[in-house]
Amino acid sequence: MSASWGKCKSVLITGSSRGIGLHVVKELAKSSSRPATIIASARNPTGSTDLQELSKTYPGVHIVTLDVDSQQSVSSALQEVRSIVGDEGLSCLINNAAVGVPTDLNTVTPEVMMKNFQVNTVAPLFITKAFLPLLQSAAARSSGMGIHRAAVINVSSILGSITQNQGEGATFKSYAYRTSKAALNMVTRCLAADLGSDGILCMSLHPGWVKTDMGGPHAHLTVEESVCGLLSVLSRLTEKDHGGFKDYRGDDLPW
Ligand SMILES: NC(=O)c1ccc[n+]([C@@H]2O[C@H](COP(=O)([O-])OP(=O)(O)OC[C@H]3O[C@@H](n4cnc5c(N)ncnc54)[C@H](OP(=O)(O)O)[C@@H]3O)[C@@H](O)[C@H]2O)c1
Repeated sequence: MSASWGKCKSVLITGSSRGIGLHVVKELAKSSSRPATIIASARNPTGSTDLQELSKTYPGVHIVTLDVDSQQSVSSALQEVRSIVGDEGLSCLINNAAVGVPTDLNTVTPEVMMKNFQVNTVAPLFITKAFLPLLQSAAARSSGMGIHRAAVINVSSILGSITQNQGEGATFKSYAYRTSKAALNMVTRCLAADLGSDGILCMSLHPGWVKTDMGGPHAHLTVEESVCGLLSVLSRLTEKDHGGFKDYRGDDLPW
């Protein structure tokens, strides 16, 4: 993995119990060039034996309970993370946790729309807001832009691209998921407009179609392929990528 990850002091990942989040923790933890502090958050960490194993095997891997859908949980996680990172602050926040239920025009309900919107759009915004003082502390200690300083990475999806939702790109039907990720992309742009002057890089990242519980068995990529790609993309981020939407290969995606 890129040596740049060694310049990132700390990273917090949401939704680390399984899938892409778990593998981000794993790949970072086993790398020789890695953040000293890796904070793996999950809403029910004791239910993930893989995560427990990782924190026992590798130094500097901290497990924090965080249900992204609960303000109370966000507040207590913030206290815990603050005590782990101290004055150094938090270098990189990866908003990864999400839900995805396929919902076509026949099956979509107001409830499923709101659930997707709450977890996939509202939660990343309010987690970023809660952890902002820690990101600002990290940003104040460095210069330039990238994971060496401070960054907010919103794990989005090509399914949130309004431009791509036509022709073949419109085959996958999910009003709830697609809408929530399109709105997350707007959250990214709003955050980028507000946090750029603090030196906090904000971007949306599509991991590809990945064989996880969400992506299913027919997906194109193994979770290892996706995570290696996206960690490499993150390691190369500069001010040019601020406010951008990229995939795991580093290609720019249409909004
Ligand atoms: N897989 C794909 O093909 C694909 C494609 C494009 C984008 N993505 C995006 O990539 C990210 C990771 O997806 P994945 O494929 O790894 O999905 P996944 O295997 O379904 O895992 C989802 C993760 O989110 C967590 N989560 C859900 N609700 C939560 C909550 N309220 N609080 C805390 N954690 C919560 C889950 O925790 P529990 O174990 O507790 O349920 C789990 O760790 C998501 O943002 C997804 O939208 C995935």
